[in-house]
Amino acid sequence: MRKRAAQAALELVLDGMVLGLGSGSTAEIFTRLLADRVAEEALDIIVVPTSAGIERVALDLGLQVSSLNEYPEPDLAVDGADAVDKDLNLVKGGGACLAREKAVDYAAKRFVVIVDERKLVSRLFEVPVPVEVMPCAWRAAEQVLRRFGTPRLRLSSQGKYGPIVTDNGNFVIDLEVSADVPPTELEIELNAVPGVVENGIFSRRRPDEVIVGTPTGTKRLKPT
Ligand code: 5RP
Repeated sequence: MRKRAAQAALELVLDGMVLGLGSGSTAEIFTRLLADRVAEEALDIIVVPTSAGIERVALDLGLQVSSLNEYPEPDLAVDGADAVDKDLNLVKGGGACLAREKAVDYAAKRFVVIVDERKLVSRLFEVPVPVEVMPCAWRAAEQVLRRFGTPRLRLSSQGKYGPIVTDNGNFVIDLEVSADVPPTELEIELNAVPGVVENGIFSRRRPDEVIVGTPTGTKRLKPT
């Protein structure tokens, strides 16, 4: 299902584009398909990665890698998501890459999300919202986040003892939201908490399209 969505997104890629490259397993499938196409068709594509993880994959595949500072407005960003609601609000950050993902995805001229159908939710906050916080302020931020629900510091499950550390050197608190606040307001309110760097609600710049991989094909969701 993820591959079907990635293949459909690949058709949106045109020669000469600067592409924002998302993070996670679905974005990685897209990146591998992209590298094959770039090699087969000798395309001139520059990629702007949203994480150290996808940057490493892109470099290994021989893609031309650059940065958001060099290309502040990529032509197209293709990224995965952890949850998509009917209004195409997203929760992202399952891979702890939310801050750079948001910087790249929001800056792109066109933003396309690729998911499998299990990511479609009836209530956006069925999944916890990842919140990136400064290590020196995580406990203070956690106290304030309790106003919105139940916060849990994300711990590393392998390779490191203790909290996971983002590409930016920060921690992640997963917030199970119980407050009844619309996504666009919560996205702003969470970023106003001292110590918070960014949160994984993507509601202020909705995707231009969500490509959903299904067991038999794809379906395409567009904002109404
Ligand atoms: C990483 C992300 C990913 O896009 C999200 O977690 C989806 O990942 P996957 O495609 O592996 O399900 O936001 O921070």
